[in-house]
Amino acid sequence: TLRIILDCDPGHDDAVAILLAAGNPHVEIAAITTVGGNQTLEKVTRNALGIATLAGISAPIAAGCATPLVRDLVTSPEIHGESGLDGVTLPEPAMELDRRHAVDVMIDVVMSAEPGTITLVPTGPLTNIAMAMRKQPEIIGRVREVSLMGGGMNLGNATTAAEFNILVDPEAANLVFSAPWQVTMVGLDVTHEAQATPDVVDRFRELGTPIGNFVVDLMAFFIESNKLEQRFTAPPVHDPVALARVIDPSIVDTLNAKIVVETEGTYTTGMTLVERRPWINHVSTTHVATGLDVAKFWDLVIDSIGRL
Ligand code: BDR
Ligand code: CA
Repeated sequence: TLRIILDCDPGHDDAVAILLAAGNPHVEIAAITTVGGNQTLEKVTRNALGIATLAGISAPIAAGCATPLVRDLVTSPEIHGESGLDGVTLPEPAMELDRRHAVDVMIDVVMSAEPGTITLVPTGPLTNIAMAMRKQPEIIGRVREVSLMGGGMNLGNATTAAEFNILVDPEAANLVFSAPWQVTMVGLDVTHEAQATPDVVDRFRELGTPIGNFVVDLMAFFIESNKLEQRFTAPPVHDPVALARVIDPSIVDTLNAKIVVETEGTYTTGMTLVERRPWINHVSTTHVATGLDVAKFWDLVIDSIGRL
């Protein structure tokens, strides 16, 4: 089994990632941690508890950093609504929030597990991960890998140059990319292929389950907001791609390359720069997603969520 910590800011596509984790038989959720991003920490944490209640998740859920390391929080109500998860009604949480800070939960989980067994799957700004590295640097050598949704090689969404998760906390992203652990950046180049087309939505509907219908309702809002804001006819469901490649690495092609994040650009703050000059022989532990097997991806997501 794959033991994961899902560090998220739900968020419609984060919600799909949580459900993928809950339904997939190879995944064991060691903890769900939340970070300010798509909405305020309070709202995304409420959403995480609601989704966990729906999916019957019993892992600890802990709230982390409300704001980025050095900047003010920027949220994304245009895409995710005022609640962070507009379009659905969540049940009252059936569990209590863990009393510990998310950073301490991460550290506790990683330090108490066998080295090389815990995978971090961040699908929001990287604030909690950076804080955990700073508080307990030994986690860097003990984590199996970090598979994160963020950035892009040739694309931005929040700005011309930057993807939302990286733009919100570029200093944290730089720390995560520069540490000597295996990090895969699953960015917009591949997540823009993971679109919730009418056919995909039909397959969720055909599951005929309450959770299948929940995803249909989530997507109904997400389709409209992405159409209005980013002119997508079918919205990219970014976050579950970072988890899907952990479950089945053949779903995403990757390239080993050094990544740095611009933190001082006039126009390019939050841009992820990927070193692709073939004559530069950087040794680096960062990888960039370059291709997605779209059919395999949706088969995995729909099959897993169909088990809930
Ligand atoms: C990322 O930004 C958020 O709005 C989504 O949840 C996803 O993690 C895509 O840029
Ligand atoms: Ca997210």
